[in-house]
Amino acid sequence: MKFSGLVSCLAAAGAATAARIPSNKCTLPTTKIANIEVVNTPLVQDAINLIKGFIPLQPYLYNHLMRSWLFGAAAFNNNATLKAAVDLELHAVGTMLHDLGWDMRPNSPWHSAFIYEKIKALTPDLLNSDRPFEVDSALGAVDFVKEHNLRDWDANRLERMQDGITLQGMTSYLAGKNIDSNWIVQSVIFEFPGPRSPLIPDADYDSILAEFPNDTVFRGTNETFTWLALTKPAGTRGSFIDYFGVSYVPGYGPQSNIAFDLITGGVVDEIAKFPNSTFVSNL
Ligand SMILES: *[C@@H]1O[C@H](CO)[C@@H](O)[C@H](O)[C@H]1NC(C)=O
Ligand SMILES: *[C@@H]1O[C@H](CO)[C@@H](O)[C@H](O)[C@H]1NC(C)=O
Ligand SMILES: *[C@@H]1O[C@H](CO)[C@@H](O)[C@H](O)[C@H]1NC(C)=O
Ligand SMILES: *[C@@H]1O[C@H](CO)[C@@H](O)[C@H](O)[C@H]1NC(C)=O
Repeated sequence: MKFSGLVSCLAAAGAATAARIPSNKCTLPTTKIANIEVVNTPLVQDAINLIKGFIPLQPYLYNHLMRSWLFGAAAFNNNATLKAAVDLELHAVGTMLHDLGWDMRPNSPWHSAFIYEKIKALTPDLLNSDRPFEVDSALGAVDFVKEHNLRDWDANRLERMQDGITLQGMTSYLAGKNIDSNWIVQSVIFEFPGPRSPLIPDADYDSILAEFPNDTVFRGTNETFTWLALTKPAGTRGSFIDYFGVSYVPGYGPQSNIAFDLITGGVVDEIAKFPNSTFVSNL
């Protein structure tokens, strides 16, 4: 990827939040991908190379991750105030790595059921380490950044990235959280079917979709979610992936909700134990 510019200092200097943005923000190198200006640090380049590993088995995943990053970057390029307020390198890495847990390659380092297989011989009493794919992805992204030993990635910056990835599917829980976690999620939302966002120019939508097409994203996502339910049901139970397990995985079992089952089962036990306690319903 060829070096082709620097992020504007002017906008960053004017932002009220500039103080918490890494000091090198003004000198972040940039390049163009699908005609969108993006940051181009060694960490960002490594993230691109990492997700290129998905191309042979899951090309739809690579395209989805690149589009998520580029849609967000296009929205920033369209609003200088916003661009100055966001941590662009964090956004790039967080969006590109937000679905590491979808990796279907055997021995994926981000598939917690596979990790469990490896460690259960050492800790046989460990009940179950299956985690939702969002958590696998977030922990994988944090490890990826940590392995680079970069001085400007402190615990706070790592956590903002981790939170954005973990909460990617829980938009209603994001209110009041920091702008960087929010913009990882917002960038993923640009991927949802529906009308184009007014935050992104049409020409940018066109150039991004031309280079990273979304023509198999539904088929690929359906297969990946089914695979998650098949390979680590403990990490999909109670989440929206449950529907894929119930519908497509023989033996997965019926739809259930852990909290509902626990609480309604608990009511029956509680009445048996405390028959004389007064409980008044207010419904
Ligand atoms: C640009 O971004 C800022 C910060 O998020 C926001 O307050 C403003 O409304 C945006 N402007 C436009 C035109 O969307
Ligand atoms: C794929 O891109 C097209 C063209 O912008 C869009 O209309 C459609 O909603 C997108 N589909 C998905 C699944 O994102
Ligand atoms: C989703 O994927 C599963 C597993 O491959 C498959 O059985 C099912 O038919 C797919 N659903 C649709 C609507 O194609
Ligand atoms: C509930 O009250 C009845 C009648 O006063 C009493 O016989 C019984 O022992 C009480 N049960 C418990 C579990 O306290």
